[in-house]
Amino acid sequence: MWEDRFAAKDGYLFGVEPSGVLIANPWLALPSHSVLCVADGEGRNAVHLARSGMLVTSFDLSATAVGRSNALAKQSGVGVQTHILDWNSWDWSQQFDMVIGIFIQFVGPELRAKQFVDMKSALRSGGRLLLHGYRPEQIERGTGGPPTVENMYTEAELHHTFAGWIVERSASYECEQASGSAHVGKAALIDFVARKP
Ligand SMILES: C[S@@+](CC[C@H](N)C(=O)[O-])C[C@H]1O[C@@H](n2cnc3c(N)ncnc32)[C@H](O)[C@@H]1O
Repeated sequence: MWEDRFAAKDGYLFGVEPSGVLIANPWLALPSHSVLCVADGEGRNAVHLARSGMLVTSFDLSATAVGRSNALAKQSGVGVQTHILDWNSWDWSQQFDMVIGIFIQFVGPELRAKQFVDMKSALRSGGRLLLHGYRPEQIERGTGGPPTVENMYTEAELHHTFAGWIVERSASYECEQASGSAHVGKAALIDFVARKP
């Protein structure tokens, strides 16, 4: 479904500008630190972090999206280690200073729990996790994201899942988005940043 969606679009479905959470929180980009961008799509976030001096690895299952990510990195004069891979084929034992999951709400609660276990395992001790996505209130907005309330994040769930982690940012807010043609309009968003003990 995702490959078809990207292939049907002439140009970048989510745009080439990074997600607003990275713009609003520049402290997250630490030069020379390694970062894994999961389900990174067309590379807007990976390339932004590489431009900031981070050592970036990314994967996504869509070959079209990863091709666009490679083109964006080349055009920006940075290197990103990209991979065309399904989530379940990634080697989660590889360790990173940071793992970011931006708009990865393509699964329901059961698989989300697995996503979180996998992302936890890819972080070194003291490493930082960034999750950014939609809240249940987004369903009424219709300005992006899946139409399934079970796929949404709440701060309560994230605090429970990452109990014992050092929470650096936990925020629920409304924000105007203009990301390509896919995420456009006022959205109910959530940011969660925490460090692995
Ligand atoms: C909403 S898009 C977000 C893309 C990117 N993170 C961004 O913010 O621009 C969701 C992405 O998840 C990818 N995806 C969906 N299921 C996946 C899976 N099982 N394994 C890897 N990537 C997947 C899609 O190809 C798509 O690029």
